[in-house]
This record gives sequence, C-alpha cells and structure tokens, in this order.
Amino acid sequence: MLEEIRRVRESLASVVAANEQELEALRIKYISRKGLLNDLMARFREVPAEQKREVGIRINELKTAVQERLETLRTQLASTETVSADIDLTRTPYPQPLGSRHPITLVRDEILRIFARLGFSVAEGPEVEDDWHVFSSLNFAPDHPARDMQDTFFVEQQPDIVLRTHTSSVQSRVMEKQQPPIRVVCPGRVYRNEAISARAHCFFHQIEGLYIDKGVSFTDLKQVLLTFARELFGEDTKIRLRPSYFPFTEPSAEMDISCNICGGKGCGFCKHTGWVEILGCGMVDPNVLKAGGIDPDVYSGYAFGLGVERITNLKYQVSDLRLFSENDVRFLDQFVAAH
Ligand code: DAH
Repeated sequence: MLEEIRRVRESLASVVAANEQELEALRIKYISRKGLLNDLMARFREVPAEQKREVGIRINELKTAVQERLETLRTQLASTETVSADIDLTRTPYPQPLGSRHPITLVRDEILRIFARLGFSVAEGPEVEDDWHVFSSLNFAPDHPARDMQDTFFVEQQPDIVLRTHTSSVQSRVMEKQQPPIRVVCPGRVYRNEAISARAHCFFHQIEGLYIDKGVSFTDLKQVLLTFARELFGEDTKIRLRPSYFPFTEPSAEMDISCNICGGKGCGFCKHTGWVEILGCGMVDPNVLKAGGIDPDVYSGYAFGLGVERITNLKYQVSDLRLFSENDVRFLDQFVAAH
C-alpha cells in the first residue's frame, strides 16, 4: 500500500486540467466519496498494525498534496480564462495611431526634392512682411492693384506691413543677403483677402524659384520647368508657355501642363482644353536685380512661382480647396498610403 501511495503522489505533478470540466473530473477522481483517497482510507483497516502509523501519515500527506495540486490547477485555470483566445498577448498594450502627413506637405516636399536634385537650396522668409519686400522691391508701381485693400491683408499702414501675398518676397530677401550664383526655392504660406469658396481661400501655399548667374537665359528656365513637370507628373507630361505679365519679370509667362487627369484629351478639370495652368515665371526684371543689389549688366536670372494647392489638386484630384484646412481626419487619413 505504501508503494501505491508513493506512485499516486509522484504522478500528481503531471496531472493537468485544461478547463473546468477536467478539473472537476480530477476532483471526483481523487477526493469524492468514491475517489482514490476514500478508497485508500477504506482499505486502511486491512493494513497490518505495525504499518498503520506510517501508512496513516502517508495518506494524510497525499491528501494535502492532492488538495494543493487541485488548488494550483484552479488558479492557473482562472488566470488563463481571463486571457481568452481572442486576445493577442503579442500586441502592444495600447494602439498607437500613426498620424498621416498633410497632402500639402507631401506635395511641397516632393517638389522641393525635385529642385534639390537640380541644385536648388531652400530659403524662407517671414509671413508678416513689409511693403518693400512684397511689392516695391519687386517693381510694383505705387498704384498697382495688387496693393489694394481688396487683395492684401494689412497689419499696419504707413509704413505698410502686410501678410505676404506671394512668396516672391523671399526672392528680394535672398538677393539682399547673397551675391550670385543664387539658386533657391522658397516654400511658404501666403495670404489674400478673398471670399472662401471651393476654388479660392484666404491663405494658400506657394513655392518660389530663383536662379541668378552670368548668362542665364529663357532656355534654361524652360528646360528646368520641363524637367520639373516630367519628374512630378510623369515622363509623358507636356508643357506650354503662354506670354503673360508680372511686374517683377520681363518677359513673363504662365506655364500649363498637359492635364494629367484626362491625359490631355479634355475633361471637367481642365475645362476641356487639355491644359492646366500651374505656375507663373519669367526673366527677372533688371529693376528687381538692382533693388536687390545685383548688377543687371553682369547678371541675369529667371524666377517662377507655383501654387502648391493647385498641384495637389491635380495629383490627388481634390475638388474643394476648403478640405485642406478643415482638418477632417476622414480626408487626411487617405494620404497615408499615397506615399
Ligand atoms: N508671385 C506670383 C503670384 O503670386 C507668381 C510668380 C509669377 C512668381 C512669376 C514668379 C514669377 O517668381 O516669375 O501669382
């Protein structure tokens, strides 16, 4: 009998229960009325008198060991049951939502990367700017309509401090500080006093480009813009330059690209012309070079200015400008996978 008790005790360590039912089966097997322990107790009577003391001790030890084992299995079961099968313990404890980059930022960075490869560095200037940098140094006549209250937000008047209406103001800041060769792109936010609608907003984003050196010609401008358009919209993209007017460039042009939504066939976005205007450009007016302290008899240069929203609309077919500043995550989340 001692031998039997020893075997039962040894086997206890390998006894397991995967669920409540199995645990209950073990309880019945060991400690119910018809269980193993009661059976041993029942047979205790037959034990020879001289062994009774030891067998008694061993049975009691076995009883405690069985109870302990069952208790251990019960606690194990309780702790595994709270961790049910559909909880993945390898996950991070709290979901960490990853933000997405704003579409304007994505497109701005892509444009800056293209120009970086072409040798342009980045320059920035203030959004609250004086009249000289926004208008006068850029050859705007004192009565030019762009200075009008209707277009410009004034912070102070006489002397005028305004919210810059274009990033061309950074051109003149760069020229003041640096002699040619100058090759910069200037990204930034600009402000105009316009009624907010799907097609116009009181603030938007531009990137200005400026290249000044000896012997810079219109051909250089055209080639850089063609390379830029192809990098941004694909190899098949065509450009066309239309004569235009800006006070700070002479000659001036506006550049269209073949509509990348319909591939040039004509659609609602390009108003069925097959072309979309994306920037203004030209050869820097000698007056502007002079205002910036650069000798126009020695140097020449080109400049261009593009609207980031416009290009973002083309790339992502966003039809309402207001979406860019509403911070609706349902809109913003869509740009995670895009890059
Ligand atoms: N500043 C112009 C605008 O806001 C854009 C522009 C046109 C910039 C021609 C230039 C340029 O540098 O050469 O509409």
